Amino acid sequence: MTKEDFTLGMKTERMTDIALAFKQTGAMLAAIEMELFTHIAKGAGTVAEIAAALGIDAEKADRLLTACKSMDLVREVDGKHENFSDVERYLVKDSRTYFGDYLDYMAHRDYSAWEDIADNLTATAESDEDDDRTYLSMMQDPATAREFTEAGYEASIGLGHKLAKEFDFSQYKRWLDLGGGSGCYAIAACERHEGFTVTVLDQPNVIAVAREFIDKHGLTERIDTTPGEFFGPEYPTGYDLATYITPLQGYMPDKVIAALAKARDALQPGGTVLVVDYMLKDDKTGPLDPAFVNLFGVREGRYLGRVNTGAEWAEFMTEAGYVDAEYRWFTPHQLGLITARKPG
Ligand SMILES: C[S@@+](CC[C@H](N)C(=O)[O-])C[C@H]1O[C@@H](n2cnc3c(N)ncnc32)[C@H](O)[C@@H]1O
Repeated sequence: MTKEDFTLGMKTERMTDIALAFKQTGAMLAAIEMELFTHIAKGAGTVAEIAAALGIDAEKADRLLTACKSMDLVREVDGKHENFSDVERYLVKDSRTYFGDYLDYMAHRDYSAWEDIADNLTATAESDEDDDRTYLSMMQDPATAREFTEAGYEASIGLGHKLAKEFDFSQYKRWLDLGGGSGCYAIAACERHEGFTVTVLDQPNVIAVAREFIDKHGLTERIDTTPGEFFGPEYPTGYDLATYITPLQGYMPDKVIAALAKARDALQPGGTVLVVDYMLKDDKTGPLDPAFVNLFGVREGRYLGRVNTGAEWAEFMTEAGYVDAEYRWFTPHQLGLITARKPG
């Protein structure tokens, strides 16, 4: 579909906003790190109160607040500062849905690498093979696996509850959660539905962290864990639901299809496979975040993964031997939800 040229007559503002968007990242991360939004939520309202809470001069606090007001993160009502409601919900430390640490972790991890996009695209890879070093080698180090998995729990537990509300887990008996990470999706689903058990499969150093989260939620009777590898030995069998929730964007289509086919072997006839992952619109005009993840999936000329359209996901399902593939948005700006069935 052709997009209308809405930029006719525009000056340089739009280009400046896009090219210099890193300033927004920097200012927002500073506010998160200094816990500005948490101090405001706890009642610091005037510039003087906020400056005292942050332990900096009023002039400096005013500059940070001005930046946050310019980005519509904070607003001033009768001389007192308030968080906008999404900020209050997601960036205030004691909130159950806080994910500031996750944003801080991701932004610091990737920030400087975004200077190299052109080099990444023009470099010639030494081999054509896709490179799975991101997840596989990252998790070889117990400390890195712990940091990634704990940050992942914080980022995804809210989505876990959203999925548990939208997807009827109660129609299944045995669920295999592949690349289950911290176990957050299994934990949320078990808290909301009775009648099924889950096996979380992931790499050993991740499983060690998942077990702690599962213990903490008192769910060891319903959620067991097993170390495993998508491209290693066969999965355990006898499940009626298998899921891949966000690991597959780290792989190219041939591996995605192989991983889906391997999950099919773990399922009973008629069983369901569910994928939640970054997804692009079928006409590839967005959304922004999946488009960026896809672009960042080329590093030094090598492919470290791919973000697929819904139609491509449906094709992969068919190629992996499933029927009745369907896809829809799970979060409209980012993640798709794809299901299919092993023939009965
Ligand atoms: C982005 S995390 C998602 C974790 C969890 N599903 C969630 O959404 O919070 C991807 C997970 O898949 C696991 N993973 C990726 N590739 C894997 C592979 N080849 N074998 C086993 N686990 C893998 C990683 O160790 C990691 O825990």
